Amino acid sequence: MSDQSFHTEAPRRFLFLDAGARPDGNTVQLARLAAESSLPVGAEQRWLRLADHPLPPFQDLRHAGGGSYPEPEGHERTLLEATLAATDLVFVAPLYWYTLPTPAKLYLDHWVGWLRVPGLDFRARTAGATLWGVTVLAGRDGAADPLAGTLRLTAEYMGMRWGGLLLGNGSRPGDVLHDERALVAAKSFFAG
Ligand SMILES: Cc1cc2nc3c(=O)[nH]c(=O)nc-3n(C[C@H](O)[C@H](O)[C@H](O)COP(=O)(O)O)c2cc1C
Repeated sequence: MSDQSFHTEAPRRFLFLDAGARPDGNTVQLARLAAESSLPVGAEQRWLRLADHPLPPFQDLRHAGGGSYPEPEGHERTLLEATLAATDLVFVAPLYWYTLPTPAKLYLDHWVGWLRVPGLDFRARTAGATLWGVTVLAGRDGAADPLAGTLRLTAEYMGMRWGGLLLGNGSRPGDVLHDERALVAAKSFFAG
């Protein structure tokens, strides 16, 4: 038996962050389909609704006092720990005004604080993770360019890999299940 037979890779851990403002909307439905059909074998998945973990307003303390942030508590702590545990971070984010819904944007704003919590090493511990986006919009595809750009540039800034954006079309919940192109893309999305 060769040494290689003992070599097993740690399972990927996908964190799905649902940023939508209604339960079971099109975006979650599309993300669920992609997870069911294209997650790597053995991958773990955790789903969190940002609405269930409301964050306090972000305060810009970068240039106040020593510029450091306190240890996060409460919902912020839950989201921080879930983020640190993930190898793959999936923004399940309906398109709102061409970009991310407010809870997703607020969560990202808090990264600025997490980067400055003494001893946390947020950047080093998240570098190498893969960032993905799943979105559904009612209008034309190009309207999601700002959302795609926000996530892709965030990944670049953080030293993360950009996995890409899965895009669907719909308005009323369930509409996206009639978007053939999105259904086909979902089948292989996380395998790409
Ligand atoms: C606050 C808000 C803003 C929206 N802004 C846009 C937009 O900029 N472009 C667009 O095509 N659709 C827009 N929509 C439509 C949603 O993207 C679409 O209905 C989508 O299905 C919502 O996702 P969900 O079904 O997962 O809740 C908006 C909807 C809401 C509620």
